[in-house]
Amino acid sequence: MTQSRPRISKAVIPAAGLGTRFLPATKATPKEMLPVVDKPAIQYVVEEAVHAGLSDVLMITGRNKRPLEDHFDRNYELEEALRRKGDASRLAKVQESSDLATMHYVRQGDPRGLGHAVLCAAPHVGDEPFAVLLGDDLIDERDPLLSRMVDIQRLHGGSVIALMEVDPAQIGLYGCAAVKPTETEDVVAVTGLVEKPDPDEAPSNYAVIGRYVLDPAIFDVLRETEPGRGGEIQLTDALQALAAEPGLGGPVHGVVFQGRRYDTGDRGDYLRAIVRLACEREDLGPDFRAWLRSYVTEEM
Ligand code: G1P
Repeated sequence: MTQSRPRISKAVIPAAGLGTRFLPATKATPKEMLPVVDKPAIQYVVEEAVHAGLSDVLMITGRNKRPLEDHFDRNYELEEALRRKGDASRLAKVQESSDLATMHYVRQGDPRGLGHAVLCAAPHVGDEPFAVLLGDDLIDERDPLLSRMVDIQRLHGGSVIALMEVDPAQIGLYGCAAVKPTETEDVVAVTGLVEKPDPDEAPSNYAVIGRYVLDPAIFDVLRETEPGRGGEIQLTDALQALAAEPGLGGPVHGVVFQGRRYDTGDRGDYLRAIVRLACEREDLGPDFRAWLRSYVTEEM
């Protein structure tokens, strides 16, 4: 049965946000380009899509996002300069981002929310299931969440969202899912969704994290979705419509993620992500860990 389902090949990455939490760094630089150690945050996300087999990547951008396109394009001048210097390893790093995936871009124009950003992908995606990856969530490549979601979508059809159990006091920061267990331990059936609920009214502590594998029926639902929380067209609200009416586009399942996730949309978490990833790097880690240990014991 799964054989007849189309193979998912397209990833959509909304990247039109203003990044106000990181001003003034993001005044003239897209927040997606802020480095996590020595790579822009967005490159980790594109690499994750490629590792899950999705090499056709559509970015939803907006004004002031040209550096994103430049980063995933060739830079012949720089390549030539590095070639002349004989710096093969840096040359490879520069070429890596332009060879990663087939990149496409569309501008959102009016920023009317995540649901609206996803709807901008409709002409490119067509009538196939596709993935959405939010750039503020980095998933450690050793914990391949998206591949698991693609497998679950092939098994059940419909849509699959990523869920993580959070401290109930924090649920108001996320989309929240009401769920029922399935026979598979890390998979739940989603029976309802609500965007950023009041913690007292939240149906669970299952938070939606920024990975989705969506049935294309979501586009028709999004066209009919009224602005919701914050006056924005919410992807969560469209998914709620799919969960409530499986006849529209199949069921909604959740993969419960227990791996490593870094939130680079928040300044404190962004710093923690850099420290953790730097500590684990083979080239930088040993020196950095030694420095960090002495910094913590002697200066804090
Ligand atoms: C978005 C979604 C929310 C989800 C979150 C995950 O919210 O609307 O449902 O839980 O991403 O990071 P945002 O953080 O963009 O406000």
